[in-house]
Amino acid sequence: MKKKLYIKTFGCQMNVYDSARMRDALMVLGYAETDKPEFADVILINTCHIREKASEKLFSELGRLGQIKKKNALIVVAGCVVQADGAEILRRSPLIDIALGPQSYHELPKILTEYNRQKGRAIRAEFPAESKFDFLPRPQKSSANAFLAIQEGCDNFCSYCVVPYTRGCEYSRPSTEILKEAKELVKLGAKEIMLLGQNVNSWHGDQGRDLGDLIRDMAKIRGLKRIRYTTSYPSKMTQNLINTHADTKKLMPYIHLPIQSGSDRILKAMNRQYTVAEYEKIIAQFRAVRPDIAISSDFIVGFPGETEGDFEQTLALVERVKYASSFSFKFSARPGTPASLMKNQIPEDIKTKRLMKLQKLLQSQQRAFNEATVDKELDVLLIERGKENGQLLGYSPYMQGTVVKAPLNMLGEIVRVKIIGASATAITGKIITQ
Ligand code: SAH
Ligand code: SF4
Ligand code: F3S
Repeated sequence: MKKKLYIKTFGCQMNVYDSARMRDALMVLGYAETDKPEFADVILINTCHIREKASEKLFSELGRLGQIKKKNALIVVAGCVVQADGAEILRRSPLIDIALGPQSYHELPKILTEYNRQKGRAIRAEFPAESKFDFLPRPQKSSANAFLAIQEGCDNFCSYCVVPYTRGCEYSRPSTEILKEAKELVKLGAKEIMLLGQNVNSWHGDQGRDLGDLIRDMAKIRGLKRIRYTTSYPSKMTQNLINTHADTKKLMPYIHLPIQSGSDRILKAMNRQYTVAEYEKIIAQFRAVRPDIAISSDFIVGFPGETEGDFEQTLALVERVKYASSFSFKFSARPGTPASLMKNQIPEDIKTKRLMKLQKLLQSQQRAFNEATVDKELDVLLIERGKENGQLLGYSPYMQGTVVKAPLNMLGEIVRVKIIGASATAITGKIITQ
């Protein structure tokens, strides 16, 4: 019988991608994936360090899995918490057998094969000189909407953020390697590929080629129907990439462009490299080439020193831009970041009040965006079962979650849908053709 692998992933899309690559590597070793941790021989937890709450999830998950795991099952912890904590993580939990940082997970098959409990637990949390991508096997499995990491790391050092420390400095994968992986994913059933990077639009290839050029190359792949990319950094946006939204049909009309705050004073304290006016100019450029484009953002409320006036400016910015969707968070002081040491930390109750007010506004905009698509016909990529029997859930070109009545065998298909209903979180539709 094949050995079984259970994976639990926290954090961003990059972590989802990394988990898939670790799964691929273990499939090559002969493991099969299971969704039942109590039967697993290897339990892999891929962790996130971005906010305090995210990082604590590792320890509640370890507690839960420690209770139900098979006696000899190995627990592997990977991801950003390992990179941030280093060897300390083994001291924090005796349950962990192997700990791997985000740049070392290509070593997992070797470590697992050689692992011997008596000789002690294993940790890899360096930034090795070699690229892990050179050592990973080709993809073994793909969903209809696949992720593909093209860029990793961050040189921006926003004053609140741990990512430059957990993921290291910026690295762009070569385009030949990316195109090869994309073709393999399509062969395995991918219809859509989301290109990933902590600063995806800082990706660069040979001879000054940028993300727009890469997307045009990807669009030539037969069988690939949709391309997306995330997350972009405002001041790294190029006119070439913006133009790609006008000339490349496979590139979906959606851009996630986090602003974080609508106050220039706070943006400066955050060490973000743009002003509110520059950000709005980029939005206008996108809308000039693609008037229907859906815009999405991340926001942080309660950054140290944020006044009521600064917060009002964030609300005003949101009113002007009109977002199709968004993610918003209370500032979380992360150990080792400059912002965690700033004076004027904002009390929790004020953060909560501001977050609720911002989310109310963002939600009403998302509802308005969704309502504006009612009666329209949209292409929807069906990717999972809906809540009710006979329902499938998919995504519209604008990244709206879309519920349709459809048989299970249509999973992975792109269908033409007439939108008949909308809420703040999703739209519903009826299939008109296949
Ligand atoms: N590279 C991306 C975002 C990575 S983290 C970018 O620069 O946009 C995802 C989001 O988490 C960030 O956009 C930010 O809104 C939020 N975030 C990061 N650090 C945070 C912190 N210390 N407290 C609260 N939110 C944080
Ligand atoms: Fe973090 Fe800023 Fe880099 Fe995004 S750009 S990953 S928020 S440091
Ligand atoms: Fe979290 Fe690391 Fe992603 S900290 S958000 S898993 S890059």
